Amino acid sequence: MLNLIIHNQSEDQKKAVDVIASENIRILEEAKAGETCYADSQGWLDTEEWAGEENIKRLEEIAKEIRENADAFVLIGVGGSNNAARSVIEALKKDDAPEIIYAGNTLSPYALNQMLKRLKGKSVYIDCIAKNFETLEPGSSFRILREYMESEYGKEESAKRTIAVGTTGSSLEKLCEKYGYTFLEFPLNVGGRYTAMTNVGLLPMAVAGIDIRELVKGARDMQIRVHEESAEKNIAYQYACLRNLYYKEGYRVEMLSSFEPQFRFFYKWWIQLLAESEGKDNKGVFPVAGEFSEELHSVGQFIQDGSPIMFETFLDVKKQNASLIVEPDEKEDYFDYLDGKDFWEINKAAYHATVTAHSKKLPCMTFELDELDAYHFGQLFYFFQFACYLSCKIMGVNPFDQPGVEAYKKWMFEALGK
Ligand code: PA5
Repeated sequence: MLNLIIHNQSEDQKKAVDVIASENIRILEEAKAGETCYADSQGWLDTEEWAGEENIKRLEEIAKEIRENADAFVLIGVGGSNNAARSVIEALKKDDAPEIIYAGNTLSPYALNQMLKRLKGKSVYIDCIAKNFETLEPGSSFRILREYMESEYGKEESAKRTIAVGTTGSSLEKLCEKYGYTFLEFPLNVGGRYTAMTNVGLLPMAVAGIDIRELVKGARDMQIRVHEESAEKNIAYQYACLRNLYYKEGYRVEMLSSFEPQFRFFYKWWIQLLAESEGKDNKGVFPVAGEFSEELHSVGQFIQDGSPIMFETFLDVKKQNASLIVEPDEKEDYFDYLDGKDFWEINKAAYHATVTAHSKKLPCMTFELDELDAYHFGQLFYFFQFACYLSCKIMGVNPFDQPGVEAYKKWMFEALGK
């Protein structure tokens, strides 16, 4: 379950958000129905389309074989091709899973050499994920890793250990046919940042021991919820309207904050989703992350006292998943007020204190999750994707393209003589 709590909302703000909600009601209805103008980008709207039983079964079988044979699994991908998997894996990976190593997200020779060093002496499988297989980072990493695999295992065995996720008809698929790699479909009708519930996100998660059935169930339950809830109660629509209200009021930055480091890579997924979807036509709220409590001691100052440019969205988990008690001692370190307390409780106190302080200065809301598990990650993925879609539509931008990203690629390819 996911709940929205709005902190210190004034009556005027309540009215203002109601106005935005009633003015844009058509957008919610169109999104629920699925718009023909975006038909080539909405394969994620119905979770069943790319995460149905048959697909899940196949992914579980492939993942089982990898888990049985691999010490290391290299996820080659960038942006939408790795962020969703990485956010869940780094939060929930199982101790008995192969080490998950990331490649295809940098061109730094130092980082690439470090990555190759980590493979030495290990039984390795690789998974290259690239929608059209033109992006330089995954393409160049895949080449280096294919060479590494062939030199370690020979042609035949390395082919068995190589998986690629690409679109049907792409040069990546042709490469798979020619060299005998396992090929999985990258949905043509889903843009990279919306692919959490497809082969793109689900295979690496399954390899890491994540219960992908629970994840998909969470997404599906959220899908049903946001398609059934009326505008007044619709959690995704409320969030989209609030973002647009704050934007109109001059708040140009949204900080997603939490006191749980398990969200560290989820922030990256969320930042990409919002920034790439909404930041265009000289519009958009700039998304940033607040990794608390560490960053309370750095950007916390700006949030509290600096330019009033941001609103804050907290993630808070209700169910305790760990415990560490501060045992009383005789050492007189002036921290005796913590004696007998659990760090879970101490961390919560820091969260409540921060909400109290920040909400006196800027608009703040919290998404409360019952538990931090695969099911709730599924809920979060679907929720933010749907809310992002609504928010972009209210702002008047295309949620599914990324013309700005293409611009730098053009200059880079030119410089490299492509
Ligand atoms: O959301 C998107 O479409 C992008 O961020 C892509 O995921 C990213 O650029 C990687 O593209 P590709 O999978 O084609 O390498």
